[in-house]
Amino acid sequence: MNKFLVGALAAALCAPMAVAAPAQKRVPLNREAKMRVKIDSLMSVMTLEEKIGQLNLPVAGILTGDARSENVAENIRQGHTGGVFGTIGAQACHDLQRIAVEESRLGIPLIFGLDVIHGLETTYPIPLAQAASWNMPLIEEAARAAATEASAMGIAWVFSPMVDVCRDPRWGRIAEGPGEDPYLGSEIARAMVRGYQGNDLADSTTVMACVKHYALYGAPEAGRDYNSVNISRQTAFNDYLPTYKAAAEEGAGSYMASFNDFEGIPATANKYLITDVLRDLWGFDGFVVTDYTGIAEMVPHGLGNFEDVTLRALDAGIDMDMVSEGFKNVLPKAIAEGKVTEAQIDAACRRILEAKYKLGLFDDPYRYCNPAREQGAVYTDADRQLARAMAPETMVLLKNDSQLLPLEGKEKIAVIGPLGDSPDNMFGMWSMADERVKPVSVYQGLKSALGADRVKFAKGCNALSDDALEAKLSARGGLERDNRMPQQLRAEALALAAESDVIIATMGELMNMTGEGASRADITIPEPQRQLLADLAATGKPVVLVLFTGRPLVLTGEAQLADAILNVWFAGSEAGDAIADVLTGKVSPSGKLPVSFPYHVGQVPVYYNHKSTGRPHPQGQPYIKYRSNYQDIPNDPLYPFGYGLSYSTFEYSPVTLSKERMGTHDICRASVTVTNTGTRKAKETVQLYIRDRQASSTRPVMELKGFEKIELAPGESRTVTFPVGARELSFYNHELEYVLEPGEFDIMIGSASNATQSALLTVE
Ligand code: BGC
Repeated sequence: MNKFLVGALAAALCAPMAVAAPAQKRVPLNREAKMRVKIDSLMSVMTLEEKIGQLNLPVAGILTGDARSENVAENIRQGHTGGVFGTIGAQACHDLQRIAVEESRLGIPLIFGLDVIHGLETTYPIPLAQAASWNMPLIEEAARAAATEASAMGIAWVFSPMVDVCRDPRWGRIAEGPGEDPYLGSEIARAMVRGYQGNDLADSTTVMACVKHYALYGAPEAGRDYNSVNISRQTAFNDYLPTYKAAAEEGAGSYMASFNDFEGIPATANKYLITDVLRDLWGFDGFVVTDYTGIAEMVPHGLGNFEDVTLRALDAGIDMDMVSEGFKNVLPKAIAEGKVTEAQIDAACRRILEAKYKLGLFDDPYRYCNPAREQGAVYTDADRQLARAMAPETMVLLKNDSQLLPLEGKEKIAVIGPLGDSPDNMFGMWSMADERVKPVSVYQGLKSALGADRVKFAKGCNALSDDALEAKLSARGGLERDNRMPQQLRAEALALAAESDVIIATMGELMNMTGEGASRADITIPEPQRQLLADLAATGKPVVLVLFTGRPLVLTGEAQLADAILNVWFAGSEAGDAIADVLTGKVSPSGKLPVSFPYHVGQVPVYYNHKSTGRPHPQGQPYIKYRSNYQDIPNDPLYPFGYGLSYSTFEYSPVTLSKERMGTHDICRASVTVTNTGTRKAKETVQLYIRDRQASSTRPVMELKGFEKIELAPGESRTVTFPVGARELSFYNHELEYVLEPGEFDIMIGSASNATQSALLTVE
């Protein structure tokens, strides 16, 4: 087929072309001019040491890595500190800010950062769960609420959104991100940046976003945290970089460099990623911070001594050094020796001062750390209601034989399993919430929904068979080990099951089996729990598996044992009540998987938007030799991307196109009519996928290019229409040009990546 490239050619093979200058949201001109005047005059009186001081970010308070920062207060006083992270609370931040403002020579305010990953004191569902909601306004609202709460607690800068696309569920940090898809991930990146930053960073209830982990951190080899990333530039541009780019387009104020290397260079020293792509190609004009000890870690990475790696980080475009103190200790001497120019330091210092200016810190350094404002702004009823309303939208009903859920007509309910009455484990990883604020458990939630006399609990087993690991993973005192003999725990659970009408098996991962430094090779429910589930199923009583997880688990065995499976991830502050809302039918679950659940760990990475190969295996067929398939397992995941049931049912009409042929600059409209054919009002996410049938490079078998979440009453129909044009059909070709190549495209719409109807569009 004759191919036609849209747009100009890239200047060089290594640099993908910019299609259009990104639509950055900028500070209005007069404010930008005022900012320049202010910062010019401030920098004209700053010593070199004070400028370098702005590039230094120590941790004080909550430690999120092994290293700690010493002499934090004294360094602030000496002007050796630009910001602080890990400190929570208006008073604690105020105390440090006062040192900066009143005791340092120039009184430059600090910027306070924190990992506000899914809320702070009010905890929302973990990010992977939020991705399962496919509800962008809701995700934006939760980020907005988190910003309002965090900004009242001293925080002006959040280390979020984490937009690392990930296709390997062994990686524990998949829980923190948007899942496997660049399109869904990009929409989430935009929604979260909007939520955090609002329309005006100078509003004291908005915070600056820090997009992480730039870049490609979600593709570590073998799913092992911090491991090397080995993917091509073309794959990076098509599949992994779009989320970070979307955040830049939305005006994100800062980025965090990732720990991994890319093309042999750790991201922290990767000039191509930070300067060529992020700044020059995408037009990002904010500041870039390292990750925790990101500079120091380049020594064991093998990139040289501490001085070498520090200079490489600055040269790559890093502005702020988190915890390593490389900039603070190495740069003064490097300047004297002529290894670094003052202009390089000025550029980094200016970007950090600009961030502070945009946040209004020069107008009022205490605007985010006013203890009076904090009163009444934290863990509010409104935020808790939002957390409760969000949770059911994130829960994915994976199986529901004979409409076992919702629990209607079931009088006696047995909650059985180690996660049934474990408030601490409801938060999910990266929860900074005060320990006094405890979520209710599933057991408590069901009791208050149905009455204490109808609901009973038995633990049934400990979460893990490895006592030492379980003790380590049970944060905050966490899940208490039951020291009775396993047989006793099991007997108690079976006795309870025998006298109940339905079993709610509350099982899965402890929250600390997910998140940073939590890679797992065996991604199943831990062994004692699987055994318990088998014993419960053998009673013949109906079993609902309420699954807690921060990653796709292999549920192939459980899918045969349980009659229904509700994946609740980790739902945060309101988990127990929200799970009860769904189990009792007050709300229909409406989550759809943002990531594939493998049939077997040996399939990993398994993702819906894979390529075809030259010897594709016909779907649904048994093993065929000389085809791309396995002898012992199917190619397909157990539960695919986009999948999720509801308490209602939906019917899709065939796909219609407004035109079947079009030019490269045209837009076609693809529509379906969706009807609620069930008996309940419920939400459905309608998904648009495309397949480029022939192209100059191999293309995925399908790619998400649009979605809409709608709510329909029983019997109600709605027509959903998606535009299909250059935005949906273009890709980065082998030369890294962003092109729309004419040819045939399948336009698919449906309720999941494996349940679509399709129409053919020809682009001429
Ligand atoms: C993590 C980041 C986090 C930082 C600060 C690092 O270990 O990789 O995601 O923002 O610590 O807590």
